[in-house]
Amino acid sequence: MEQSTIVLKGDICYSKSLGELTTLEQGFLVCEDGLVAGVYERLPERFAGVPLQDFGHQLIIPGLVDLHVHAPQYSYRGMHMDLELLDWLNHYTFPEEAKYTDTDYARKRYPVFVDDLRRSATTRACIFATVHVPATEILMDLLERSGLRTMVGKVNMDRNAPDYLCEESAEVSAQETVEWVKDCRKRYRNTKPILTPRFTPSCTDALMENLKMIQMRYGLPLQSHLSENLSEIEWVKELCPQAEFYGDAYDRFGLFGVDCPTVMAHCVYSDEREIRRMKENGVFIAHCPESNMNVSSGIAPVRRFLEEGLHVGLGSDVAGGADLSIFTAMMHAIQASKLRWRLVDESLRPLSAAEAFYLGTKGGGAFFGKVGSFEPGYEFDAVVLDDSRIADPREYKILDRLERFIYLHQEQDVKAKYVAGRELQK
Ligand code: GUN
Ligand code: FE
Repeated sequence: MEQSTIVLKGDICYSKSLGELTTLEQGFLVCEDGLVAGVYERLPERFAGVPLQDFGHQLIIPGLVDLHVHAPQYSYRGMHMDLELLDWLNHYTFPEEAKYTDTDYARKRYPVFVDDLRRSATTRACIFATVHVPATEILMDLLERSGLRTMVGKVNMDRNAPDYLCEESAEVSAQETVEWVKDCRKRYRNTKPILTPRFTPSCTDALMENLKMIQMRYGLPLQSHLSENLSEIEWVKELCPQAEFYGDAYDRFGLFGVDCPTVMAHCVYSDEREIRRMKENGVFIAHCPESNMNVSSGIAPVRRFLEEGLHVGLGSDVAGGADLSIFTAMMHAIQASKLRWRLVDESLRPLSAAEAFYLGTKGGGAFFGKVGSFEPGYEFDAVVLDDSRIADPREYKILDRLERFIYLHQEQDVKAKYVAGRELQK
C-alpha cells in the first residue's frame, strides 16, 4: 500500500448537493494520492493495512472555502463600521492598504492573517492583497508555506483612488501585473495568482483592456466586486453609461466568466438581467452576509440565485466582515436570509443549516475544481472538529451537531486539518 493512503475514522458529514447532506456515524474516510477514495461504513479489505487515525466521536467535514477576503484589512477587522461602502473605503480602507508600500509593515501584519487562516477550518480561499507587488509576494510566500491552497490577487486600481494608492497609469498597472504573474509561476505551487481589478470605479477602460490581454495570455481567473451598494451602483452608471447593467461593465471587456473563471463578491442588488448573464457566463457569487450588514449594503437574494442554479459560495470579506470564520458566515447567511424573507420578500424562503453548509463547502469549493465534498475523486480537504465542549456528541444526530457548531464553534475546536491529502501542522 502506498504511503499516501490514509484513513480517518469519525462522525462524517458532507454535502452532495444543496439539498443532500450525507452523514455517517463512526464512518471511514479514505484518502489516496491526495484524493477522496470513498466514505465507508465498514473499511474495505484493501485498506486494512493503511495507517488509521481514529478521531472517536469528533466531526469530520470537508475543509471550508472562503471565496472573498481582504488580507490587508485583517488588522482593522471589527472596527470602523460607521460608514457605508464608498466612505468606508476612503476613510479607512485606502489609508490602511497604502501602508503596504512598506514591506516591513507587510512582514509584520501578513503573518497574523495567515496564521489565523491556517488555524481556522478554512482550507481554500480567494484573497485580495493590495496594489503593491512586493507586499503581495510576502503574503504569497507565507501562504505557500502554510499548506493552504489559495488564489491571491495583486489589486489593480488606476482611478478614483487617493494619489498615495492609485497606480500611475493603466500601462504601469498592467506591466507590474505581468511581472508579478510571471514571478508567481516560478515561485509557487499552491498559491495561484488571480486577476483582481478592485471594482469598476477603480479601473479605467484602458486598464480593463490590458487585464483582458493578460487574462488570455496567462489563462488566469478573476475576482472583483459587483452590485454591493446603492451609491456604488449609481456611480458605475455614471462611469459606464454604455453598460446595460453593472455586470455588463465587466462583461464588455471579457472579464465576466465564460473563458475567464470569475468570482464576484456581493451581488446584493443584481437585477434579472445581471442574474441571467451570471448564469449564462458561469460566474461564481461570493455571498458575504456579515459584510453586507456591517457596511449597511443590504441582503443578497441568495435563494433566488440558488433557484436559478447559479454558483454560490460564502466569503468572510474581512474587514467588511469582522470574522474570518466561514462557520460564522454560514450563521449570518441563515440569519440574513430570514430577515430578507420576513421583511423584503416572503417568496424567497430562508436558508437551512444544511444549505448554508453546502455554500461554505461544495458551493464555493467548485471554484477550485473538485473541492468541498467527500465524493470519490474530490481533493482531500478535511477538518476534524471537536464539539464535546458544547454537547455530549452522542446525544444528537450529526446534522443537529453541525447546526450547533455553526452557531457555537470556537477556533480551538478545530483539531486536525488536511489540504489535498496533506495534514497541516498545528
Ligand atoms: N468594493 C471595492 N473595494 C472593496 C473592499 O475593499 N471591500 C468591500 N466590501 N467592497 C469593496
Ligand atoms: Fe470585498
